[in-house]
Amino acid sequence: MNKKFFDHIVHGGDYNPDQWISTPEIWDEDMRLMKLAHVNSATINIFSWSLIEPEEGVYNFGWLDTMMDKLHANGIDVILATPSGARPPWLAQKYPEVLRVEENGIRNEYGVRHNHCLTSPIYRQKVREINHILAERYKNHPALKMWHISNEYCGECHCELCQEAFRDWLKDYYHNDIEELNEKWWNGFWSHRISDWSQINSPKYRGENHVSAMKLCWNRFVSDSHISFYENEIAPLREITPDIPITTNFMNMYDGIDYQKFASHLDLISWDNYPAWDRGNNGSVAVRTAFAHDAFRSMKGGQPFFMMESTPSLVNWHDVNKLPKPGMQELSSIQSVAHGADSVQYFQWRKSKGGHEKYHGAVVDHCGHENTRVFRDVARLGTVLEKLDSVVGGYSNAKVAVIYDWENSWAIKHYCGFNNLKRDYVGECVKWYKPFYDMGIAVDVIPMDADFSQYDLVIAPYLYMLKDGTAERIEKYIAEGGSFVAGYLFGFVDSNDMCFLGGWPADNLKQVFGVWCEETDSLPEGMKNVATYGGKDYDVVHICDIIHANTAEVLATYGRDFYAGMPALTVNSFGKGKAYYAAFRNDDSFTADFCRELVSQLSIAPDAGIVTPENVTVRKRGNTVFVMNFTDEAAEIELDREYRNIVSGEKISGRVTLDVCGYLVLE
Ligand code: GLA
Ligand code: ZN
Repeated sequence: MNKKFFDHIVHGGDYNPDQWISTPEIWDEDMRLMKLAHVNSATINIFSWSLIEPEEGVYNFGWLDTMMDKLHANGIDVILATPSGARPPWLAQKYPEVLRVEENGIRNEYGVRHNHCLTSPIYRQKVREINHILAERYKNHPALKMWHISNEYCGECHCELCQEAFRDWLKDYYHNDIEELNEKWWNGFWSHRISDWSQINSPKYRGENHVSAMKLCWNRFVSDSHISFYENEIAPLREITPDIPITTNFMNMYDGIDYQKFASHLDLISWDNYPAWDRGNNGSVAVRTAFAHDAFRSMKGGQPFFMMESTPSLVNWHDVNKLPKPGMQELSSIQSVAHGADSVQYFQWRKSKGGHEKYHGAVVDHCGHENTRVFRDVARLGTVLEKLDSVVGGYSNAKVAVIYDWENSWAIKHYCGFNNLKRDYVGECVKWYKPFYDMGIAVDVIPMDADFSQYDLVIAPYLYMLKDGTAERIEKYIAEGGSFVAGYLFGFVDSNDMCFLGGWPADNLKQVFGVWCEETDSLPEGMKNVATYGGKDYDVVHICDIIHANTAEVLATYGRDFYAGMPALTVNSFGKGKAYYAAFRNDDSFTADFCRELVSQLSIAPDAGIVTPENVTVRKRGNTVFVMNFTDEAAEIELDREYRNIVSGEKISGRVTLDVCGYLVLE
């Protein structure tokens, strides 16, 4: 059953009143300003551990009690964080094992945040204790609406505890069978056969770093360690507050944790969105951001997600921190909602007076009052979000899916071969996502183990690795009538990064796609081949599979080099469906034309019939249509019928001009 956790778009963000503990008059001013900004939620306690437990076992919740009450009294809900993201100095001093050991084998000193061992029993116990106390204390507080677990889990630890845990993880993964591991890691190569589990250490620069199967296992282990660390954190919360939803904030397409696997452990997905707007390429920033939104929306079957952080103006950690122009933050926020976010939240509410992030954008600047451009923009957006209740909680699914898979991203990162300088898996997936996005057709972004049956079209760019069972599921999907497009290097290895023997793509897929791939060419930067498709020549760059069409029909051929005239794009009818193989990497123009052709053949209609110029995007969510101008100029669009403008309440039809950063929310 589809779950709905909130009734309104959540508008607010990270609030750190603990930084202002000695000036409580600022807290009262914050309440006034939050109401003025149409903020309805505050995420607190993220970095408060040293204040709530200043010494081991000594607690100080008075300020947090006051803050919870104050927020509630002012109609502002609380998303309460567990504080494991940054520990108090006493904890590290007393229990050094909680500190992370870097790949170089040296244990970190106390400092920054995260920086914790994922395995340390003491840290896990301390986290569970403080979370237990928080849950007991606030379980009945009416302001508490959601748990925000830790903050942006990331990184890895190489301490002895983690080494031992890695060995245990491997024993489990390889059925306690050393010979299975030797086989799966191809350890005969360079005489690497192990005779005892204790001979395994984490991959590191000064040690083993050339066994890709091992590095994949390490990625899985680190990812699983985060999940088990999280499960340990939430145990008391689940027990004491079973009805309060739980999330943790993800970081874009960060590859250190398999978010697609983590997703099933969360009640609601949330992520932190920091696009680098206004450097002359807003169109490409917008499509890249939309892709991430859709990946997060797809993680729980189309369930709305939270945009847990964004900046109301600039950040402080880009190389050059450009101020986005007026209206840009608002447009960016609307884009999030259009793609499935049920929240617009900021880092942070009030700019810090000191510390590392004092120049990071915030709703309330150092001046302390509401008479700023940023504050006015946030407040205006707040009034818009208040009109969008009808979209809240609505699930949305697409007819087209692009496979982006975390494990495959690791496999691509680790192989040595082909074009070692040009991987960019996300970029390749965005390239295939963009044509649909441009046509106003929703796309789900799914892992390879997702159910394909709901889609008319599934596209698998650069799907180099196939997990067990994937080849069979692709075959079944196509046999039953699906259309599937595979990109180059398709189905080269299994989940241990071992090559499939007998030619590529793997096993049954040669029949399904009606091709076999004999060689793969890599083109140095600046060298191009061409693919002729539909009478037109398209640039071919970086990677070209040299394939033979057995039963497949050839739709495009290479134009140069010793493989000129050989197939570059094929289609094979298989069962009731169609299997396409796009053997080369292209610039955007080929994918644009080819996907347009697929859409027309499959009669996939745009979600709304509004005609827009490039980089003015249309996105339908439920019955609400969002039109967004990501160009740097005013843009003309053509509405296909009469709509109601949800923001102004007026009827609207025909030709409409959108200002720079302009948008429409229509029904
Ligand atoms: C991350 C963190 C925040 C803050 C912001 C700054 O998203 O979660 O605590 O550091 O970055 O952009
Ligand atoms: Zn460790």
